[in-house]
Amino acid sequence: MPRLGVLTSGGDAPGMNAAIRAVVRTATSYGWEVLGIRHGYAGLIADDVVRLTARDVGGIIQLGGTLLHSARCPEFHEEPVRRRAVDTVKRHQLDGTVIIGGNGSQRGAYDLSQSGVPVVGVASTIDNDVFGTDQSIGVDTALNIALEAVDRLKTTASALQRAFLVEVMGRHSGYLALMTAIGGGADAVVIPEMETDPEQLIADIQASADRGKAHAMVVVAEGARYNAERLIAYFHARRDRLGYEIRATILGHVQRGGAPTAFDRLLATRLGAAAVSELMAGHATVMMGFRQGEIAATPLDEVVRNVKTLDLRLLDLARRLAT
Ligand code: F6P
Repeated sequence: MPRLGVLTSGGDAPGMNAAIRAVVRTATSYGWEVLGIRHGYAGLIADDVVRLTARDVGGIIQLGGTLLHSARCPEFHEEPVRRRAVDTVKRHQLDGTVIIGGNGSQRGAYDLSQSGVPVVGVASTIDNDVFGTDQSIGVDTALNIALEAVDRLKTTASALQRAFLVEVMGRHSGYLALMTAIGGGADAVVIPEMETDPEQLIADIQASADRGKAHAMVVVAEGARYNAERLIAYFHARRDRLGYEIRATILGHVQRGGAPTAFDRLLATRLGAAAVSELMAGHATVMMGFRQGEIAATPLDEVVRNVKTLDLRLLDLARRLAT
């Protein structure tokens, strides 16, 4: 009986469980056996595997986190360590492996494929910074969580006529911050892709006060040079010029927790199923993503060679609407 491995790697993303479920049930429906590899690449190195049946993945489509657990495994970049992972693949006679994760995980998938292991990646990270997909698993949920936070903060901000800095995740990408700013109607946004002058932010916040707004809301990407911590220090030293009292909220890992949205459940399900189909068709060394409304495969070497860029026209939109 052909046999497939599946693992989740790196930062978890809401929808990973839906993807695991889709991989297991698609494969078993065609008579393939599935082994779940626990704790990402660390589990592949340590041979931490468990048989997964269709029943084992029941009741998880709506759950955040990952049934298989995840891990960051920087040592996987070292060739001798990777050889142990290849040994595990051979020991269990895996005919293919599905790797669910973000940029680092897809780099690992590519490296594994270079050792002769048939691999298909599934784009999954709240950062939305993976080349080859318009949207990764988990992004929609993280964005909805950030928007709910902004909506809530606006009410308390208005009550006391305050300015708020809200820092969102995204590592080196400003995608989550920019989308949160547009969707949340923020007064300003700070992203790593565009240098920000904190004096300009003070002017933006003052302008909100001058227009008689009850609050000012600034969304900040964690990867920006001026993140929330640096900005709040800068603003505190100049608080008399702001026009509002100011507070900062760092959303952090809250954005990765909890149930996936409908969009993420469906995306994860489609990507997981498509990954199995690709492997069965003998089309390995690709990553499954979502491009222009369709499920699409991108060669893994393209995924790791290219950097996904942010459409900066959206920054103009955010600024134009912040009046
Ligand atoms: O890559 C996903 C992500 O949540 C980033 O947005 C964030 O910078 C990072 O992971 C946090 O990593 P950790 O969970 O290891 O603290």
